[in-house]
Amino acid sequence: MLENKVVELLNRQVNKELYSAYLYLDFSNFYYDQGLEGFGNWYRIQAQEERDHAMLFVQYLQNNGEKVVLETIDKPQVALTCSKTVLEEGLKHERYVTELIHTIYDAAYTVKDFRTMQFLDWFVKEQGEEETNAEGLVKKYELFGDDPKSLYMLDSELGARTYSAPSLSL
Ligand code: FEO
Repeated sequence: MLENKVVELLNRQVNKELYSAYLYLDFSNFYYDQGLEGFGNWYRIQAQEERDHAMLFVQYLQNNGEKVVLETIDKPQVALTCSKTVLEEGLKHERYVTELIHTIYDAAYTVKDFRTMQFLDWFVKEQGEEETNAEGLVKKYELFGDDPKSLYMLDSELGARTYSAPSLSL
């Protein structure tokens, strides 16, 4: 059994990760509509990763005999105005998710829930990587986004991203 507060936050994170998947699917669709299929591919894979994250939280709750409570997933709340803005919103969202993970960690730490802390360690590292990736995309777009040939090459680079399952298994 886990503490109620920790269970509540873990359940909330299932919803937040599914929202992230929904948000990034929206980003992906935006880029496909723009003809930037590489960016579209990159965010479609990102959406798959977010769904994986949600499933890891589901599995962790179930492994500990806790009930999973699914709530409504919000409509994506980011205005898709231009390619660069979307990337910046992606970075902002990852920083927000990092805060959420830290909040759960803090709750687990408070009640000496070492098992949950160990489970969350993977997410702490993952968030570091996700923020770095999102920052990299913004920087690259700032450097190359205004030049059609460079943008084409960047789009091709992002189009080469392939999905791989998370390195964490429960
Ligand atoms: Fe699951 Fe990108 O945080």
